Amino acid sequence: CGIVGYIGKNNAVPVLIEGLKKLEYRGYDSAGVSVFDGKELLITKCKGRLANLEEKVKNEPISGTLGIGHTRWATHGEPSDLNSHPHTNKDMTISVVHNGIIENYIKIKEWLISLGYEFETETDTEVVPHLIDYYYDGDLVSAVMKTLDKIEGSYALGVICSKEPDKMVAVRKDSPLIVGLGKGENFIASDIPAILSYTRDVYLLDNSEIAILTKEDVKIVTREGLSVNKEIFHVTWDAQSAEKGGFEHFMIKEIHEQPKAIKDTMTSRIMADCDEIKLDDIKLTSEQLKNIDRIYIVACGTAYHAGMVGKYVIEKLAKIPVEVDIASEFRYRDPIINEKTLMIVVSQSGETADTLAALKQAKSKGARVIAVTNVVGSSVAREADDVLYTWAGPEIAVASTKAYVTQLIAMYIIALYLARLNGNISVEEYRQIRDEMLTLPEKSQEVLDQKEELQKFAASNYMHKDIYYIGRGLDFAVALEGSLKLKEISYIHSDAYAAGELKHGSIALIEKGVPVIALASQSELYDKMVSNIKEIVSRGAKVIGFAFEGNSEIEKTVNQAVYIPKTLDILAPVLLVIPLQLLAYYTAVEKGCDVDKPRNLAKSVTVE
Ligand code: G6P
Repeated sequence: CGIVGYIGKNNAVPVLIEGLKKLEYRGYDSAGVSVFDGKELLITKCKGRLANLEEKVKNEPISGTLGIGHTRWATHGEPSDLNSHPHTNKDMTISVVHNGIIENYIKIKEWLISLGYEFETETDTEVVPHLIDYYYDGDLVSAVMKTLDKIEGSYALGVICSKEPDKMVAVRKDSPLIVGLGKGENFIASDIPAILSYTRDVYLLDNSEIAILTKEDVKIVTREGLSVNKEIFHVTWDAQSAEKGGFEHFMIKEIHEQPKAIKDTMTSRIMADCDEIKLDDIKLTSEQLKNIDRIYIVACGTAYHAGMVGKYVIEKLAKIPVEVDIASEFRYRDPIINEKTLMIVVSQSGETADTLAALKQAKSKGARVIAVTNVVGSSVAREADDVLYTWAGPEIAVASTKAYVTQLIAMYIIALYLARLNGNISVEEYRQIRDEMLTLPEKSQEVLDQKEELQKFAASNYMHKDIYYIGRGLDFAVALEGSLKLKEISYIHSDAYAAGELKHGSIALIEKGVPVIALASQSELYDKMVSNIKEIVSRGAKVIGFAFEGNSEIEKTVNQAVYIPKTLDILAPVLLVIPLQLLAYYTAVEKGCDVDKPRNLAKSVTVE
């Protein structure tokens, strides 16, 4: 979601709308603004693109010199007028915009309802204005502080109150928020582009810092109320690179957002010290699961590659046979589907025509369907029986990166959930995987920190006509995704092979100087991979090998080795795909390709 706020001498509404336009890439399910018109708080909000809000404000103008605005990417609650932000309390004295997820909102909501509060929306955010209302005793800042003590999760919040119209309060934790410093006016925003036409001096708020803005002044305090001496960050980026957070392309920005996307997708589902996986949107019971004798995972493109990983892990952990299929093949091959079938569809957009058709076909034959999607209220989410949302946030680059890693996390979550439900893994086994999963955000950040090595490899190999990827087991699934990334954005011909199959044909393609990306993360298959690498090196291939830290014997065989932090074999794909995304990205940049919008490709394929 995107947040903007204004306090000053001018009408806030055009500033908010212009700011939201620059943040529309962060979400476009709905938009809204709230302003203080000198007497009371007014709210205008509606479903759909920002243009709808603009139209509404044009027809029924509102104005005021204090205001907040929001553009929404739905997480809790369908995109609708009602679920749009800003949210308010009963007597409309407090308006709130929020980006992030309040994890414990259900508990708070129940508590507030028991106190007589009434809720109008399905959102997690609505607890915030009610909580502030509950704590308010004439001091907005202290009511916000007390509210922060109650809420858990990630948030960037902008708050205004008609009883204290000379100020705005903003705070962040694990969701971005900046403060823009003007002359006689100040701003808040999720991201720099929103305010760049007004100021280039900003405060980059750190976690748990609270900003108190008046039109003349900005004070930053800690949660304990101590004042913070913030350094001003002077933005030198032009408007275009500011939109990409200072990165050259959306794709590289999204690659860097992966640690957070992984963390967000696990949030409130997999928790340290909790032996249960919490999946509010999956209602499958253990009785129903007993009846299931087969699972189909069906998807297209990158989502299909995530499904391949899903097959491995569900079979390994839950011991249920899984077939993974490309949606356009599945729907025309007369697959065996009945009431004993569980289908998992994976789709970033939730709108891919073939995936949706396969889902409908399976449902009509009695299958139960779980959708894994990134878009709340999308077609597959609406058609499926159960939904597991990946919380990657909007993905702009056509080549999928952060959506893919969150789809992997979703596959692990489903596998663990099914395996606990049918008793195939013990609590101890669950804990081991859970604890390791919780380290993935940090470990994925470590992988990103090694990007220079991959940049160098790309610089010396971008002119090749063919680049191959090999791997066994889960590494093969990742090899397919790495190879797809490379071909779709750099236009270099690339294929991925199961390394054991090489000698049945593809090894004929290996000649002197052909680059091969060899993935060797799986411990049981490591020695076999090393033999495969030797076979191709002896035929002239130039190999870059990927393995876990500590498996350094690989260096004796390959031309260059890249290491990823040690994790469980089944979790390796999450860390292994990142260097491959980087490799594809830097290769495409070296070639001067249009990285974010590769030729002939669309982000969402809604035709067959
Ligand atoms: C298009 C995109 C791919 C994506 C595929 C499936 O081809 O370019 O990046 O993997 O569609 O899309 P979905 O939204 O269903 O995941």
